[in-house]
Amino acid sequence: MNLRIAIDGPSGAGKSTLARQLALHLDLPYIDTGAMYRAIGYLAMHRGVVAADEVTKLLEGLELEIKSDPNDFRVSIDGVDVTERLRDTEVSMRASEVAQIPAVRAWLVARQRQAAASGAVLEGRDIGSQVLPDADVKLFVTAAEEVRMQRRAAQLGAARDADLTREIRERDRRDKERKASPLRVPEDAIVIDTGAEDEAASLARILDAVNRVKKRR
Ligand code: DC
Repeated sequence: MNLRIAIDGPSGAGKSTLARQLALHLDLPYIDTGAMYRAIGYLAMHRGVVAADEVTKLLEGLELEIKSDPNDFRVSIDGVDVTERLRDTEVSMRASEVAQIPAVRAWLVARQRQAAASGAVLEGRDIGSQVLPDADVKLFVTAAEEVRMQRRAAQLGAARDADLTREIRERDRRDKERKASPLRVPEDAIVIDTGAEDEAASLARILDAVNRVKKRR
């Protein structure tokens, strides 16, 4: 059953937890598209490249490989596994910069569609709107800013401070305001507020929607 599930939402909303759970539950591959943008951001940082046309040039002949295991999602560039490098603050900022470049988006979207062709759970910012506009189920996962900031601090094992607040606000702003595929709630999405509903309840609601789709097929 090649179900394709699109999950979008801002950072720290709890998309990954839900996406992984769902992929495990439905026995589907899991694709973290944010990690793919982060890999390009990391590469640009590593090569000291900032200008959009130079970042775009980095993509020529580049091999980006993903391992879409919900328990252990991995990204390699040119045969080197860079997964452990992708969570640094600087890589986060560089990822949100390269994500504004239309050629980078086009290059990654093509690979994301290919990876999803025989069914997958994809999480990101533009999955329901651009990558898989005809996804079987679309989810928009969100939470109040305060909740998201606290989660992000816990993930990083850091205290919530002014720097982190600024970083998240800046990334949120860029993700929403950029011209190329900004973060939007897809019209036909199920909206999940992870600050207001617990994981089990959200999962039950989503599985209900999945079962309805399966019956229609
Ligand atoms: O989800 P994340 O924080 O790992 O994403 C990293 C950056 O990539 C973030 O600034 C948003 C961007 N991104 C995007 O533009 N489109 C996606 N489908 C996924 C992530």
